[in-house]
Amino acid sequence: MTFVVTEACIRCKYTDCVAVCPVDAFREGGTFLVIDPDDCIDCAVCVPECPVEAIYAKEDLPRNQEVFTAFNAEQAKVLPTISRVKPALPDAEAWAKVRDKRGEVGL
Ligand code: SF4
Ligand code: F3S
Repeated sequence: MTFVVTEACIRCKYTDCVAVCPVDAFREGGTFLVIDPDDCIDCAVCVPECPVEAIYAKEDLPRNQEVFTAFNAEQAKVLPTISRVKPALPDAEAWAKVRDKRGEVGL
């Protein structure tokens, strides 16, 4: 099992999640984070930290977010680790209200 960062993170990237991960499983892209499934230990402590509720256990993913399982796994192979909180993206508040934004990452 693993936890998965979903569409809500895109162009928000609040990064509150990384502060609590005990194994530094988060990886940072330009406009989103993902979780490396090989590092995640399924502790679930990151879930309530995300202001836009972007993080789900893999088996609890809403059906329209299932594509993000593979997206997390693939991107985690090429992106660097992020282990410290940083400021959210400048337009995060506006993007937090946008539901359909996967096109921003080519999905
Ligand atoms: Fe890290 Fe736990 Fe979240 Fe996995 S579930 S990414 S181990 S905080
Ligand atoms: Fe993204 Fe939420 Fe973390 S917006 S960076 S999953 S706190």
